[in-house]
Amino acid sequence: MIIAIDGPAAAGKGTLARRLAEKFNFAYLDTGALYRAVALTLIKGGVDPSNEPAAEKASKALDHALLSDPELRLEDTGKAASVVASMLGVRSNLMDFQKNFGVNPPSNKSGAVLDGRDIGTVICPAADVKFFVTASAEERAKRRVAEMRSRGVNANFEEILADVKARDERDMGRKDAPLEKAADAHLLDTTDLAIDAVFLRAAAIVENCLKPQ
Ligand code: CDP
Repeated sequence: MIIAIDGPAAAGKGTLARRLAEKFNFAYLDTGALYRAVALTLIKGGVDPSNEPAAEKASKALDHALLSDPELRLEDTGKAASVVASMLGVRSNLMDFQKNFGVNPPSNKSGAVLDGRDIGTVICPAADVKFFVTASAEERAKRRVAEMRSRGVNANFEEILADVKARDERDMGRKDAPLEKAADAHLLDTTDLAIDAVFLRAAAIVENCLKPQ
């Protein structure tokens, strides 16, 4: 079984994906981390994220050690990730790994959960269950600020809100694989919904799909 979860920055995709993977004992792939790793390669090398040949090169021979680098989660890495993610060459270099993870999940798991921006539309269009997780930009900025402060990072709400909106625009406006809801995705608006409620709703949908028809 493949579960595809898409949505904008800080909508709660990652938390939902992790919890679903744990409940159903499926493998989990945070596809945003791949774009972040490409961006981090450039940042660490002092290269501008808009340098397309360098980004393509980094995505072709992705350094998987970077996936556990604490700098992967920095706000600047996320911003640079959305820049490299708009490059066709980068997206196509990362595609096979993601598709293969869905079809052949590691450790012989019986299913995979992938979260990102184009999972239900491009990477796994035939996924068994698709979710589109969203929330208002204000609510998402509020969550991101709270999450940063809990890690002891100084965060300014207005700045984070501006970042969230800029990232939405870039992710939805790009030509290749823009962020959009697949027609057959379940919409989960989490603006006024706590993560437990979101999880219970999504888990019920997955359970229903697992039942013999
Ligand atoms: O955690 P957050 O939602 O802030 O971002 P992320 O999921 O780690 O993704 C970082 C950036 O990578 C996004 O802003 C997208 O531009 C890009 N991305 C993408 O284009 N396609 C994906 N499947 C996943 C991420």
